[in-house]
Amino acid sequence: MDLCIIGSGYVGLVTGACFAEVGHHVICVDNDQRKVDMLQRGEIPIYEPGLEDLVHRNVAAKRLRFTNSIEDGVDHSQIIFIAVPTPPQPDGSVDLTYIERVAREIAGVLKPGQYRVVVDKSTVPVKTGEKVADTIRRYNKTAEFDVVSNPEFLREGCAVPDLMNPDRVVVGSSSQKATDLMKRVYEPFQAPILVTDVNSAELIKHAANSFLSLKISYINAVSAICEASGADVELVASGIGMDKRIGRNFLNAGLGYGGSCFPKDVKAFIAISRQLGTPFRLLEEVERINENQLGRFIDKVRDALWVLKDKKIAVWGLTFKPDTDDVRNSVAIDLVNKLVAEGAHVTAYDPKGAEKAIEWKLIDPQKVKIVNTPVEAADGAEALILATEWKEFANQDFIEVKKRMHTPLIFDGRNLFDPSLMREIGFTYYAVGRANKPTAI
Ligand code: UGA
Repeated sequence: MDLCIIGSGYVGLVTGACFAEVGHHVICVDNDQRKVDMLQRGEIPIYEPGLEDLVHRNVAAKRLRFTNSIEDGVDHSQIIFIAVPTPPQPDGSVDLTYIERVAREIAGVLKPGQYRVVVDKSTVPVKTGEKVADTIRRYNKTAEFDVVSNPEFLREGCAVPDLMNPDRVVVGSSSQKATDLMKRVYEPFQAPILVTDVNSAELIKHAANSFLSLKISYINAVSAICEASGADVELVASGIGMDKRIGRNFLNAGLGYGGSCFPKDVKAFIAISRQLGTPFRLLEEVERINENQLGRFIDKVRDALWVLKDKKIAVWGLTFKPDTDDVRNSVAIDLVNKLVAEGAHVTAYDPKGAEKAIEWKLIDPQKVKIVNTPVEAADGAEALILATEWKEFANQDFIEVKKRMHTPLIFDGRNLFDPSLMREIGFTYYAVGRANKPTAI
């Protein structure tokens, strides 16, 4: 099929490349000329495992191309996916100005007799589909189109496999014609397709992300009880996760959830529920637990080091999770900045995220030293904090790390390491929800 994706960010680019991979002809549109130029040169503006190969292969096969022209995309495609940002506003509600602008731009180029399906892929509040349809109608009286909601469920870091093998595809549509076309788009993916009305599809996305955030906050709240009682949250998570009704996924205690989705979507769902007159108070508590989790962790570091000022602290990991270069709303970055604010001297290492953290001014390179290896970060450190669970951190030579450190103290913010191994090597090891007191050396 001939498809167009407006917005070449994480969602748009991965979606476009995967659609091309299964045989569709895809035009990716972006209004950032610099990004379009990069993509046309074969450069990928984001790090996502497997994406570069996918883009190169499909560009070479002439199934994928990039342009800055919405008209080009709309003219040559049966279905137009909107995948532009929906950032949060200061009050937590969603800023829909990009969506509204794209709706107007589509209206401006739709020609008479040219039926198109306009699909909302961005995460939007319930009832946005109705507004997109109203906007297109207002700016183009003769347009023939249907609006569909098709939320994405891909995770950064494994976006390509998530998109190629989805658990489910949700299509919110009130038109049989549009539904049939959407089913053809997803036929090659062989995934269950749930067809709903537009409002339900929009709500599914916010409800799904909020539920996953709730699961994380639940286990983080349990981790506090584990620390106070001497229990081990990893065992508790396994024990409850073995119940198929609960499941072990997203029960990893740690520094809390971050990234460009969960914090924003929980806030948005709280705002939406308030606007609809049915406040979702449980989600306010989910947020509160998440915010406290980092504070509780820093308290542990402070308790052990007494005063953070002038302490040399190594931090492993800056991205909001492993296998991505995304540092937006990263708890690891918050941690670094809080340590710096208390006067600590932080040396940080991240396999992919350091450059963007500096470029986007999320950390101050005058105050945070960035190094090229984990061992270098540990050099002379009075404490080492694991903030993001990249696999390479688990495979370090810890005897060497210990030798390089001034004091062998490890604070494992993601429960990545084996506590007994760490203690055997001679570290004083702290984790999240794994007993209040570390075993002393
Ligand atoms: C999330 C959802 O998982 C996707 O299904 C959704 O499509 C996406 O948001 C989106 O709305 O676009 P993502 O933000 O890429 O995906 O990352 P996750 O893997 O969900 O992790 C989010 C945060 O939760 C990370 O900071 C991670 O460290 C944290 N987390 C995750 C935990 O603290 N514990 C866990 O058990 C799992």
